Amino acid sequence: MAFTNRVFSGIKPSGDLHLGNYLGAIRRFVPLQEQMACIYCVVDMHAITVWQDPADLRRWTHEIAAAYIAAGLDPERSIIFNQSQVAQHAELAWVFNCVARMGWMARMTQFKDKAGKNSENVSLGLFAYPSLMAADILLYKATHVPVGEDQKQHLELTRDIAAKFNNDFATSIAAGGHDAEFFPSTEPMIAGPATRVMSLRDGSKKMSKSEISDMATIYLMDDADEIAKKIRKAKTDPEPLPSEAKGLQGRPEASNLVGIYAALSDRDIDDVLREYGGQGFGGFKPALAELAVEVLAPQAAEMRRLVADPGQIDAVLRNGAERAREIAAKTMAEVRDIVGFVR
Ligand code: TYM
Repeated sequence: MAFTNRVFSGIKPSGDLHLGNYLGAIRRFVPLQEQMACIYCVVDMHAITVWQDPADLRRWTHEIAAAYIAAGLDPERSIIFNQSQVAQHAELAWVFNCVARMGWMARMTQFKDKAGKNSENVSLGLFAYPSLMAADILLYKATHVPVGEDQKQHLELTRDIAAKFNNDFATSIAAGGHDAEFFPSTEPMIAGPATRVMSLRDGSKKMSKSEISDMATIYLMDDADEIAKKIRKAKTDPEPLPSEAKGLQGRPEASNLVGIYAALSDRDIDDVLREYGGQGFGGFKPALAELAVEVLAPQAAEMRRLVADPGQIDAVLRNGAERAREIAAKTMAEVRDIVGFVR
């Protein structure tokens, strides 16, 4: 039996949302609502794998929910909720902790980057992070996961965990009358011109929530002046823009700004370069700033309006959690039987 198409994705409330989160994820979530059932999560349990001040965690959780809605996600149609309200995420993650291997986790580049030389001293949760992420996705038997490029390795691991579970428990899965492919092999959706938005100050560094230089990052709550100033001061090179995409090779800053322009205008890179090829950044940057302000400023205003009434956001999250729980409870009941837990 084929799986019903279903989208799942999540964002971690561990810092202020930025343009990378928007172009790599949130903006791409919106049109998927027209194509399949969508579940969009605020993954607060992932956030606490490193220390989070509780007040910040709450504020960022509200901010992500507000960004989802401000970008055009419809909480009636899509399920929007925060992970910790659906206990089955933790429950399935535990089962996956017992399916996945230590070596699989130790190979994750994000773990290695975050742990650095300090791997003995990071939380156990940070090590098991990808197992919880697999649980997020597979609890809903999601078939499609739209993310930025940095999540690719985690999604490959999700497929490995699904395959190993299906294989380890094959006999029990068959005895329960389920299809042999109990968990689907999830399709990562990593596409478009901005799957990896880079820092505005250093084209070799990913734009990230943990960046310390404010000028490197466009935050979704930035106002029009801040957006324009950051783009004006973005690092570039002295060459004019090329007239086709291959001319951007070896020019990381130029490539980043053109990718941002393309993603914000829903055009492809060659199309943008047909218009701006031959021009210097003196002409391109003001056009980019104008476009970024036009797209982002109204959303920032809507986010500010929404976060001013956290009670309303909480109601959206509670309602979403209730609907998520219905699906999650069904999968988890099946998993309990498959594993051999008495209930
Ligand atoms: P997080 O919170 O780091 O990022 C949220 C989303 O934004 C994308 N992203 C970027 N895209 C382009 N350029 C960038 N510079 C950039 N920075 C971040 C990320 O790829 C992601 O899509 N582990 C995940 C959260 C998660 C999840 C899941 C995602 C938990 N469970 C299940 C999908 C499915 C994370 O930390 O994303």
